[in-house]
Amino acid sequence: MASPLLCVLLYLIRHLAACHAATARDTITPGSPLAANETLVSGGEGNFALGFFTPPGANSTYLGVWYNKVSLRTVVWVANREAPIAGAVGDNQGATLSVSAGGTLAIAAGNKTVVWSVQPASRLASPTAQILDNGNLVLADGVGGAVAWEGFDYPMDTMLPEMKVGIDYVKRKNRTLTSWKSPSDPSPGPVAMVMDTNDDPQVFIWNGGEKVWRSGPWDGVQFTGVPDTATYSGFTFSFINNAQEVTYSFQLQRSTWVEAARAWNLYWYAPKDQCDAVSPCGPNGVCDTNNMPVCSCLHGFTPKTPAAWALRDGRDWCVRSTPLDCRNGTDGFITVRHAKVPDTERSAVDGCLTLEQCRQACLRNCSCTA
Ligand SMILES: *[C@@H]1O[C@H](CO)[C@@H](O)[C@H](O)[C@H]1NC(C)=O
Ligand SMILES: *[C@@H]1O[C@H](CO)[C@@H](O)[C@H](O)[C@H]1NC(C)=O
Ligand SMILES: *[C@@H]1O[C@H](CO)[C@@H](O)[C@H](O)[C@H]1NC(C)=O
Ligand SMILES: *[C@@H]1O[C@H](CO)[C@@H](O)[C@H](O)[C@H]1NC(C)=O
Ligand SMILES: *[C@@H]1O[C@H](CO)[C@@H](O)[C@H](O)[C@H]1NC(C)=O
Ligand SMILES: *[C@@H]1O[C@H](CO)[C@@H](O)[C@H](O)[C@H]1NC(C)=O
Repeated sequence: MASPLLCVLLYLIRHLAACHAATARDTITPGSPLAANETLVSGGEGNFALGFFTPPGANSTYLGVWYNKVSLRTVVWVANREAPIAGAVGDNQGATLSVSAGGTLAIAAGNKTVVWSVQPASRLASPTAQILDNGNLVLADGVGGAVAWEGFDYPMDTMLPEMKVGIDYVKRKNRTLTSWKSPSDPSPGPVAMVMDTNDDPQVFIWNGGEKVWRSGPWDGVQFTGVPDTATYSGFTFSFINNAQEVTYSFQLQRSTWVEAARAWNLYWYAPKDQCDAVSPCGPNGVCDTNNMPVCSCLHGFTPKTPAAWALRDGRDWCVRSTPLDCRNGTDGFITVRHAKVPDTERSAVDGCLTLEQCRQACLRNCSCTA
């Protein structure tokens, strides 16, 4: 969280089974709220804890979810990130998380002021709020019953297995990841990871008003701009793009918390280098960190302003050496290997064409570029 990058943290299974707190409850019901000096611990493996905390260096209290078996407290979700309780948790012993008889889930400060609440769409007969073993806080009608609200629909800066980033058209949810403002302030910072659904969907990282990274479109196995995803043994990435949702999620079978080092093992990050930024060389330019300067033009293109390129400023773009000759049918394609494919924000998507049919369709259409 200290990093301005959105680190995707992972949860661990089994490795640290020693400290299993068998007695803690995982559910609150009307009449048995969670007190500030108490934590809920998820059932099953006991992977996650939910409770009140004060971030280091802060003088505010939040309700959050953290890894129960990781000795360095790592908060993955915060309910009231934009509505803190004033003062540290030690000075807020009367703070509570409660669920009302009708099903309203609420955080109250020590002075009884409600700072955060969620209300189910309709009254719940038997309301329960439970922390699940995947880190999801769910408000349901009875334990295991119909889910009225869930924390996974409101991701913070951390993507957990079984969580989905992207658009759910049915639930009308647009799930994004947003950085903390600072390690002592969980309120939304400037860095966000957002699913862009214009044409072929891809994931963007924004920093303030600027796009700093894009994943490239999903090719069926991986995001084309993130080729290393396919090589993470133990991780299964999934991308769903249909009428109901456009989402990205992952599953895993191994830990990246290194207990011996008491540190999180950073297994992936972006942007990776100069070339991983959005459009580092401009249109028709190719960025390769193995070259100096890193920018060059695609085959058949020359720098628009050779003087700027001579000064190794490759941000200027490239233009065709010879004009297209579409009508005579002498144009063709060349393959550029190991490249992040171009931005698909403005592109045509037809899932029924083969590669060859796509090539022919583009050749027949003189305004098509590919
Ligand atoms: C927690 O705080 C309440 C008062 O808010 C107190 O009655 C209870 O004994 C405390 N429990 C523990 C375990 O400290
Ligand atoms: C009660 O606590 C809330 C949340 O911290 C705070 O905003 C409010 O000023 C407090 N009210 C009083 C009367 O202390
Ligand atoms: C922390 O916040 C509380 C409540 O607003 C305030 O009374 C206290 O003086 C603050 N402490 C520090 C060290 O700022
Ligand atoms: C989802 O939210 C992001 C960030 O707020 C926004 O840029 C994007 O347009 C939204 N997408 C949809 C489909 O509403
Ligand atoms: C392409 O066709 C045009 C006429 O439409 C002709 O003038 C030109 O020479 C042709 N170019 C080539 C490369 O054949
Ligand atoms: C030709 O390509 C352009 C640009 O991709 C597209 O807007 C247009 O619809 C295409 N025309 C036909 C007939 O497919």
